[in-house]
Amino acid sequence: MLRSKLSMENPLNHASVDRPSDEQTQQNLPAATGSSRFVRACLRQPVDRTPVWFLRQAGRYMPEYMAVRKHHTLLDICRTPEVAAEVTITAAERLGVDAAIIFADLLLPFTPMGVDFEFLAGEGPVVHAPVRTAEQVQALRTDRIEELSYVARSIEKVAAHFSAPRADGDQLGIIGFCGAPFTLASYMIEGGSSRNYIETKKMMYSDAVSWPLLMEKLVTVLVGFAQQQIEAGADVIQIFDSWAGALSVTDYRQYCLAPTTELIRRVQALGVPVIYFGVDTASLLPTMRETGADVIGLDWRVPLDIGWKSLGHACAVQGNLDPISLFAPQDVLKARVEEVLRAAEGRPGHIFNLGHGIVPGTPVDNVIQVVEWVKHFSL
Ligand code: CP3
Repeated sequence: MLRSKLSMENPLNHASVDRPSDEQTQQNLPAATGSSRFVRACLRQPVDRTPVWFLRQAGRYMPEYMAVRKHHTLLDICRTPEVAAEVTITAAERLGVDAAIIFADLLLPFTPMGVDFEFLAGEGPVVHAPVRTAEQVQALRTDRIEELSYVARSIEKVAAHFSAPRADGDQLGIIGFCGAPFTLASYMIEGGSSRNYIETKKMMYSDAVSWPLLMEKLVTVLVGFAQQQIEAGADVIQIFDSWAGALSVTDYRQYCLAPTTELIRRVQALGVPVIYFGVDTASLLPTMRETGADVIGLDWRVPLDIGWKSLGHACAVQGNLDPISLFAPQDVLKARVEEVLRAAEGRPGHIFNLGHGIVPGTPVDNVIQVVEWVKHFSL
């Protein structure tokens, strides 16, 4: 098991997961890795059934989460390991999924970098002094990654809770995560969510010193943050490049591919598979594949078979049910779930998920029903 190996050894000396080369076929796969069907699927190893989990599986649609939110702010939950672990565990167990993503947020690394932010009700994240000048980029700190160790403490608690195999013999996968350099830079520079990413692209196009420096600083912090999570028991790291779809292929290639590839390679070198996810990425998929990520997360706009084909079937895929189809009547929802599973054609390396996060108001019973359908589906 990756988790126990990593906790006993220096992960830097343990840079080997059995990763199939692009040429390997289903008949020629390396030996199984542990007993987690989720981790095995990330590595395109055969599994007994398709693993399933959901983006934003612990969130406002779930009454148990809202009960905790009554007494804590979002950041309090993230920064209190007991509470973050409880929220993570409750969601995974309530839904019966095969993996638990640690409860945290993309923007947490901003604090040790010296960028203040808060979450305002109804507005999402707000950065009070957006990073737009060369001086501000130079001032960003990369030497306080230790301050993020509360996320690792949460992961330790989740890993301890799920240390025993479940009733079906499978080990629940534990997912740590961080943002990708472009998506994090966009929040830092825009000061919050954005429609057109004007300030971000202005820095990208016009400041050949600050943009690469910002990318480099983010990669340094994110690798350290991911390392803490892996040492604490994360089996897989998911890298969210949620807003990469705002980039043309040319801009993605010119300004973002190299730092993202470096982040992914350095996290893989710590001994875990990496899932790389973005939204609205159909045209970017072949270029995203060049990062070498083990798994690419597909949004729902691209049919799964077409998305996987455009990746040359050279990596695993995760996705890609439209999260809003969870509001549909049972017959429509079931048809959509089966469409995704059929499009995977039983190839090794499909992890069932949504094409983006569960939204508030989603009926919990429908989410649970989807898990059941995935578990009992056969081609
Ligand atoms: O189960 C889980 O996935 C929960 C853990 C989690 C959160 N944020 C908690 C959260 C994860 C994986 C994230 C990642 C994250 N954070 C992303 C990437 C995922 C994606 O959607 O593409 C992004 C873009 C952020 C930044 C962020 N955090 C935004 C834009 C918002 C506001 C939007 C919203 O949904 O309200 C948040 C808030 C946030 N982070 C919530 C949760 C559960 C909801 C707010 C709350 O509880 O008050």
